[in-house]
Amino acid sequence: MPSIVSIKGVSKTYKSGVVALKPVDLEIERGEIFALLGPNGAGKTTLISIICGIVTMSKGSVVADGHDIVNDFRGSRSKIGLVPQELSTDAFETVWSTVTFSRGLFGKKANPAHIEKTLRALSLWEKKDSKIMTLSGGMKRRVLIAKALSHEPTILFLDEPTAGVDVELRHEMWKMVRELRESGVTIILTTHYIEEAELMADRIGVINKGELIVVEEKQTLMRRLGKRQLVLSLQHPLEKLPDSLAERHLELSKDGNTLTYSFDVQAADTGIAPLLKQLGELGIDFKDLHSKESSLEDIFVTLVHGATS
Ligand SMILES: Nc1ncnc2c1ncn2[C@@H]1O[C@H](COP(=O)(O)OP(=O)(O)O)[C@@H](O)[C@H]1O
Ligand SMILES: [Mg+2]
Repeated sequence: MPSIVSIKGVSKTYKSGVVALKPVDLEIERGEIFALLGPNGAGKTTLISIICGIVTMSKGSVVADGHDIVNDFRGSRSKIGLVPQELSTDAFETVWSTVTFSRGLFGKKANPAHIEKTLRALSLWEKKDSKIMTLSGGMKRRVLIAKALSHEPTILFLDEPTAGVDVELRHEMWKMVRELRESGVTIILTTHYIEEAELMADRIGVINKGELIVVEEKQTLMRRLGKRQLVLSLQHPLEKLPDSLAERHLELSKDGNTLTYSFDVQAADTGIAPLLKQLGELGIDFKDLHSKESSLEDIFVTLVHGATS
């Protein structure tokens, strides 16, 4: 099946000279949830804004559900719903009128049945006559989604849907996104939370400094990244790692006080037991040990390292 969004060689250099995107090639499949994962400043919003026609690309081309975003902007934009990163709503309007108005902006004929369906799906129906200023934070977010869906788009962009959102609301968002996908909408979300990408997405694209480093099925990527680290605080600092430990995935901190061991969570044998035994034999004592997940930073190091070695 042809992809629903086709991104070819899209790059962006802002007038300030900032290179926000190096040439990006990406195909989004119809019906999937795609997560664009990367730290702040990676270029996520820039890429989304280009596809939605808010930012002009420097080079490249994008086709959204059969419409070229430059040559057929109106056609492509009518297929796209966007929930932006910056939240803003018209405080004094009612839910019903603000969502209905959004649809009108796309030159679509009124369709109260669709607006009703959307509000019901987002559990906003009871609030349809309420002024937006009276709603809770979670409901305001849902109003933004309802606005983005008002003109029956086939592609929905959610830019950092859960940044700065409490845990409960985050779970609610995740559930909602899955339900939207059930209804046939293709969803592209951006996030800097690994857990969010892992939980939500079918496929994940990792972006860093304007470069799309890798695009993979979630399971494949998580297997590659599914590393944990065991951190050992040593009783006495080591000057260097003993040669007999060279084969192990160990790293000695600069001050010689901490040993970090990386292991694969999914591996049948993590290698921890033999490592600890060997440390004992070498007389390397530790006063504390704890394990931690690899961070987004670690992941980039792994990916970039993996790509060049
Ligand atoms: N309007 C703009 N003018 C100049 N630089 C910008 C503009 N918008 C974003 N940038 C820069 O482009 C880079 C990517 O930003 P952005 O796309 O917002 O990243 P992300 O959404 O991943 O945090 C950053 O270095 C940012 O400072
Ligand atoms: Mg952003």
